[in-house]
Amino acid sequence: MSEINKKIAIIGGTGLTSLENLEIVRREIAITPYGEPSSPLAYGCIKNGSSQATEVVFLARHGHAHNMPPHMVNYRANIRALKEAGVTSIIAVNAVGGIRDDMVPGSLVIPDQIIDYTTRRINTFFETNLSHVTHIDFSYPYSAELSQLIMDTAEKINIKLIKGGTYAATEGPRLETAAEVQRLKRDGCDIVGMTGMPEAALARELEIDYASICVNANWAAGLSDEPISMEAIEKTIEGSLAIVRQLIAAVIGNSA
Ligand code: HPA
Repeated sequence: MSEINKKIAIIGGTGLTSLENLEIVRREIAITPYGEPSSPLAYGCIKNGSSQATEVVFLARHGHAHNMPPHMVNYRANIRALKEAGVTSIIAVNAVGGIRDDMVPGSLVIPDQIIDYTTRRINTFFETNLSHVTHIDFSYPYSAELSQLIMDTAEKINIKLIKGGTYAATEGPRLETAAEVQRLKRDGCDIVGMTGMPEAALARELEIDYASICVNANWAAGLSDEPISMEAIEKTIEGSLAIVRQLIAAVIGNSA
């Protein structure tokens, strides 16, 4: 087996509370100075059909029982726990509403920009007693290299992805109003979700490469005649998750 200098973590979002193709070797309840992460860290190897097994860490962002809404997630504990586990790269899976015309429910997007509309979340590790620079460069919030790896891998295995897009991070837990979505559109946002921030910024603060696979779960508010229901969102996500799992396994196989 080749030497592995990357350690990848997957942060699973709505619908992705476990990875069926992850052979778990141990689970660890991590304690951090910020409290407990959303779920125990599951360590294991992804079965991807190749002879090479790569160790990965899985964290369920909303807890295993999916009982932690986006605004209550302890993002700092999650990212700090992964850092302490030696993680160098995070692939996050985020459910979103589609704003741009091609962001149809069921499609997958690799975002390349973020606008943060959250208001009430603790969004930094940098507080008091600082001995080093605290202003991270966040011009490009996602790791271009990791995003490219995901896109190249998808191409190789014929998975269709939308490359690039601006992610609007909203506070939630309510969905947006139609007027808010129109404002997001005018701002240049292509998708809207509640979990992208501060996760991405916290990862950057701890120098962990971070990329996201966004699953378009619904048309954002006011963009379709259908009311937005959790049942419909969950059903759409469920339909896309098999592909997401396949993609993650292939990316991990490709990263070693
Ligand atoms: N808005 C915000 N977050 C979401 C949505 C949405 O329409 N769909 C899934 N997560």
